[in-house]
Amino acid sequence: MATNGGLPSNGLSHYNPTPLLSQRVQKWKPPGIQSLLPLESAPGVISLIVGKPNPECFPFSGLSITLKGSDERLELSETDIRDAFQYALLPGGLPDLRKWFERFQVKLHNPGHPDASWDCAIGSGSQDLLYKAFQVFTDPGDSVLIDTPAYSGTLGFLYADGHDLVELFSDAEGLNPQEVERALATWPADKSRPRVLYTVPTGSNPTGRSCTKERKIDILRLAKKYDFLIFEDDAYYFLDFQDPETKAPSYLSLEPHINGETGRVLRFDSLSKIVSAGLRIGVLTASPVILQKVNMITSNTNLQTASTSQVLALALLRHWGHAGFLTHASTTSEFYRRKRDVFVAAAERHLKTKATWEVPTAGMFLWINLSLPPGDGRQDSFQVISQHAVAAGVIAVPGVAFMPSRSKTCYIRASFSLVTEEEADEACRRIALLVEHAFAATK
Ligand SMILES: Cc1ncc(COP(=O)(O)O)c(C=O)c1O
Repeated sequence: MATNGGLPSNGLSHYNPTPLLSQRVQKWKPPGIQSLLPLESAPGVISLIVGKPNPECFPFSGLSITLKGSDERLELSETDIRDAFQYALLPGGLPDLRKWFERFQVKLHNPGHPDASWDCAIGSGSQDLLYKAFQVFTDPGDSVLIDTPAYSGTLGFLYADGHDLVELFSDAEGLNPQEVERALATWPADKSRPRVLYTVPTGSNPTGRSCTKERKIDILRLAKKYDFLIFEDDAYYFLDFQDPETKAPSYLSLEPHINGETGRVLRFDSLSKIVSAGLRIGVLTASPVILQKVNMITSNTNLQTASTSQVLALALLRHWGHAGFLTHASTTSEFYRRKRDVFVAAAERHLKTKATWEVPTAGMFLWINLSLPPGDGRQDSFQVISQHAVAAGVIAVPGVAFMPSRSKTCYIRASFSLVTEEEADEACRRIALLVEHAFAATK
């Protein structure tokens, strides 16, 4: 475990995020029953407090896991099987699963500072944790800094709360710190400053861009200068095609070295892209005071992440160990690298005069800038997709879905994760047709 109870360690100070807490999170209280739970284990006490169903009535008697490419079955202990089908009443996740990730995070992100003050909480996918973390640090209508183009799943709930979404544009090197500085240096004195910067630093959805180490360093410095938190949504961290030597370190790992503190970065990881999207397992790494707030929201809303998913994930992770996980991650990223190469080769064959793109170094998306006809109302991939996708026989997501201001754009997001080589070729040929249809429609 990486926590030291919030005390400075290794000369690091621990940033206290309390002044940035939202007003709405202060209204949440732990459910009444929670404070009584420790009394249950007092000697001689017969507990009548928890409304747990009696497992004798559950129809399951066991659970077994078979892994691809092996006849080996993962044996679950009796405790695991019992836990898998019952309420855990642990909003932050099963302790052994949390510990597994805490040790893994130390290995991946904090080797120089094993005592940095952060822990892990498990959520129902990283989406669940993102939503709750925004509840903790924003009130409806607040300004939020957004690495743009942005993941539409986050935009959805930010729109619903009427946030002022401050677009900070990325380029081939990821989020540009000059954009951050520009927005904050000229921030109106009578307007509340943003408390959160949301960014997807590796193989961003939708752009496939990754942020360089130099830029992350500058952004961390700006976080300290302007007092904001960095929500590092690294859902594609393990799908990085770059040599591990050249890959940029995470914000979480850079923070103590750059700012001499920990606690400003909230890191979101996900098993969805690498183990199973259906398990719905996400991990938030953050300071204990933040996790306590997020877990309190969990205990009042969805109670906990599914026990069955956590038990399955834990059995797999114990079987793999850190080394096995990393081997699987490297095989998986190699799989997607090949998919990327195939798709980019198809784009080269069919789209050279019809579009431009950057070759992504991580993730599963190609962000394609269609060369659409100039003129009012025509630079709009949404219109092109809506009008011509069926006739052309191809569909991709229009870029407007990723624009916080919902501005029109010529971009489309093409996902190359599922398509075969033949489909990639045909899809790119048909995207070229889309552009031709758009020109034909102007005549
Ligand atoms: C950038 C990004 N963040 C978060 C998520 C949600 O992931 P999870 O399945 O862990 O909720 C996704 C899913 O597509 C994503 O692309």
